[in-house]
Amino acid sequence: MKISQVVLPVAGWGTRSLPASKNIPKEMLPIYNKPVIQYVVEEAVCAGIQEVIFVTNRHKSVVEDHFDRNIELEELLAEAGKIEQLKAVQEAASMVEVMAVRQKQQMGLGHAVGCARSMVPDDYFAVMVGDDFMVGDDAGLIQLVEAAQKYNMPCIGVMEVPADKIDKYGMVAGEEIEDGVYKITEMVEKPAIGTMDSRLAIVGRYVLPREIFSYIEYVKPGKGGEIQLTDALENYMKEKGMLAVKMKGRRFDAGDWVDYLTAGVYFGMKDAKLAPALREALKDILEK
Ligand code: G1P
Repeated sequence: MKISQVVLPVAGWGTRSLPASKNIPKEMLPIYNKPVIQYVVEEAVCAGIQEVIFVTNRHKSVVEDHFDRNIELEELLAEAGKIEQLKAVQEAASMVEVMAVRQKQQMGLGHAVGCARSMVPDDYFAVMVGDDFMVGDDAGLIQLVEAAQKYNMPCIGVMEVPADKIDKYGMVAGEEIEDGVYKITEMVEKPAIGTMDSRLAIVGRYVLPREIFSYIEYVKPGKGGEIQLTDALENYMKEKGMLAVKMKGRRFDAGDWVDYLTAGVYFGMKDAKLAPALREALKDILEK
């Protein structure tokens, strides 16, 4: 099973990140020294993805630009002998091939994924949401790619959430067939609290068959009047089966301020040059 493309919807307004996201796409907000979207794309590259299809709107072209060359800046950095910065700038431009398609009207995640239909030639492809990302050894999309290849089935990433948070996620229930791998029996987009026992929440990572585009085409508007990806997946699951894989590692939701700020500290502390001073500064803040 070849999985070389990821569809990455980035057309959302990012209302949770306002006012920071008023004129800057939420995907471009920095976490330490890189924009959120670069962490997501790096996770995709670790899973063997070579091509990213951004589903964008007219305010989001800088997201594509980040993964393009900036020759003028590169020349300037080369002349100034700023080799480390030059490498960092070039790295972002060479990690993946980039394509983009416009979502002309925001009609939900299912609709956004559906916009990429004509750009996906292979039997299977990945989907990632642009504000969640996973860190940790062998964590993230790579787990889904491996499970999909092993079982020859579509797979979606899940994580356990507390009972009072199930109305924030697509939720799944299933039968565990291997440690952390479930055959899905039930899927509901943002169920009301108390209406589902399962704690397995969809965390914005999917490996899907090309056929899913037909299911998206025929699904009716669901939760919030939007074309929900979860509803299309539910119909597919009932007919042909689908697996859920528990994600390892740590997940950051960049649209959540606690996660966003924690992620900044997490990556800052991974930089040996920055860590000692950052630790001192944090100690000073936390002890006051
Ligand atoms: C979307 C999906 C939902 C999933 C979530 C993960 O919801 O519809 O099933 O649990 O992403 O981040 P959104 O957060 O866009 O409302």
